[in-house]
Amino acid sequence: MCGIAGYLGPHNADQILLVALERLKYRGYDSAGMALLDQGKIVVRKAAGTLEHLAQKLITEPAAGHAGIAHTRWATHGAPTEINSHPHQSSAGRVAVVHNGIIENHDALRKELQATGVVFRSQTDTEVIPHLIAQAYAHTADAGGDPLLAVRAVIPRLTGSFAFAVIFADFPERIIAVRQGSPLLIGRGPEAMMLASDIPALLPHADHVLHLDDGHLADVTHTGVEISTFAGAPVTATFARIEISADAVTKGSFDSFMAKEIAEQPTVLERLLASRIQVLAGCDHLVMPDLGVDLATVRHVTFIACVTSWHAALLAKRFIEHLAGIPVEVEVASEYRYRKPLAIPGGLAVAISQSGETADTLASVRLAKRLGLPVIALVNVMSSTIARESSGVMPLFAGPEIGVASTKAYTAQVLALYLFALQLAKAKGLLTPSAEASILEDLRTLPDQVRNTLAGCENAVSEAAALFAPADASVFLGRLGEHPTALEGALKLKEIAYIHANGYPAGEFKHGPIALVTAHLPVICLCPHDEAYEKMLSNLQEVRARHGRLIGVGHADDHHLHDLCDHVFPIERARAKALQPILSILPLQRYAYHVAKRRGCNVDQPRNLAKSVTVE
Ligand code: G6P
Repeated sequence: MCGIAGYLGPHNADQILLVALERLKYRGYDSAGMALLDQGKIVVRKAAGTLEHLAQKLITEPAAGHAGIAHTRWATHGAPTEINSHPHQSSAGRVAVVHNGIIENHDALRKELQATGVVFRSQTDTEVIPHLIAQAYAHTADAGGDPLLAVRAVIPRLTGSFAFAVIFADFPERIIAVRQGSPLLIGRGPEAMMLASDIPALLPHADHVLHLDDGHLADVTHTGVEISTFAGAPVTATFARIEISADAVTKGSFDSFMAKEIAEQPTVLERLLASRIQVLAGCDHLVMPDLGVDLATVRHVTFIACVTSWHAALLAKRFIEHLAGIPVEVEVASEYRYRKPLAIPGGLAVAISQSGETADTLASVRLAKRLGLPVIALVNVMSSTIARESSGVMPLFAGPEIGVASTKAYTAQVLALYLFALQLAKAKGLLTPSAEASILEDLRTLPDQVRNTLAGCENAVSEAAALFAPADASVFLGRLGEHPTALEGALKLKEIAYIHANGYPAGEFKHGPIALVTAHLPVICLCPHDEAYEKMLSNLQEVRARHGRLIGVGHADDHHLHDLCDHVFPIERARAKALQPILSILPLQRYAYHVAKRRGCNVDQPRNLAKSVTVE
């Protein structure tokens, strides 16, 4: 995990790097640091805790330099202390490194370096890199000191997944960046060069971006970049224009990215639909990206995903089995990669990942490919590793999602997966043109229904949140399509409000979880008018009989719900019935947000979490 950034340009680098780190905070935020090149010296500033601590330190101990590297950390090796924060330096402080990923053989390398007299300052795996590079650089002294040669000599010694950037005190206008398994981008602007783990951190100084490939190294100076393979073969540097605007990565008038991203959902869904629906001869038609797979031959689908993306996959199973009649398995990526799965003939693997970088999902993609399965990906970041390693990609078009708890990416995933199920049904000859047109017509109403539901539930949600914010546990119940909603609603509350919350298929409630019910336990029941509605009413009765505190998520005109529940979160009736769960999750996102705010939690950067989990 972690985020790295670098800057070479006409301005002092400290404030520019701070902004870049702010945009990478979603990757880790337990400590931060930067190293600037200042007249033949490397000046390092680090701080444990939030980025504000580093900003404060730069006020009390300013650092000068027009070139530098920076890091925001999610601790893996060693506690989040100042000493363990990056950048790490060689013993004489002439080489500094920031690193994202894990050096798996760090223990052996550490022992080897210690045997040569190197004294380590931190507990990190990263610290071996500057020491190794400094030693390799010393060996190039006869040739006048060659930083590139030194970095190239060290790379084959490192195993694991990494992206790192190095500066040398002897080379004040140069950053060397290396990618092997973790993302790294080079940004080019009219007057500066940058590097970062993700595009938002390059803005607004760069307007073009280059995605460094695994096995490649970038030698960046003020005037440009030279790319080569680790072995030294030159590679043509191909830049693409950055399409994301700087506004997309700021909070605007919202108090948090989470609030902004929840509010963006109608627009996100509109954008996704616009990209997939074409009007021909007055009728709506589904247009889908070419996935490089003949969908008519698919006889089995395996979804691979983690957490929120996995919840979206649970819904996709229902969509595909109902619409296309194809059996579907839904796999947690961290299990799939180790459980020796079988490849079913005619099978297709679909990886779902907002970031496209989640380590377990990526490892599962590689495994599925080794098993001979065609793999397609549903990602929000088109330049991500999972997208690049899959044979076909379905883009989400959700725009940058910065709040750690996924909201707009989840609802976009659910819609995209429904469209994919329609595409499969079409390929199998199971969707008539008139059925297709009528479903798409219903889908067009979804963004407005999301808009109305968000507005309509707000008062009830904030009232209930005020009442239940002190509760230290919650239960979420749903059946069929609302079971994933229950899981996702509980996850939101855990992630950002630190409340122990579990989602259950409501039929399972009586087998154990019902023992938890007391007069203090909020039980949130998903009760839209679907085929499980009557059964959900029975669940409400069971909780009420035991004096649990009931919140019902259902339709405003549902008198049963109002009679049985302490609170009702009103949601619209989805015209595209299968997509009711998109509307049901909205009040639960807002509920988690309000509860977290009342408990004084940071909704964008919850403790211990990170947006993109690129380590095991
Ligand atoms: C992290 C995030 C979750 C996210 C999960 C999977 O744990 O905190 O919000 O659902 O990763 O991420 P992905 O990018 O693969 O969808």
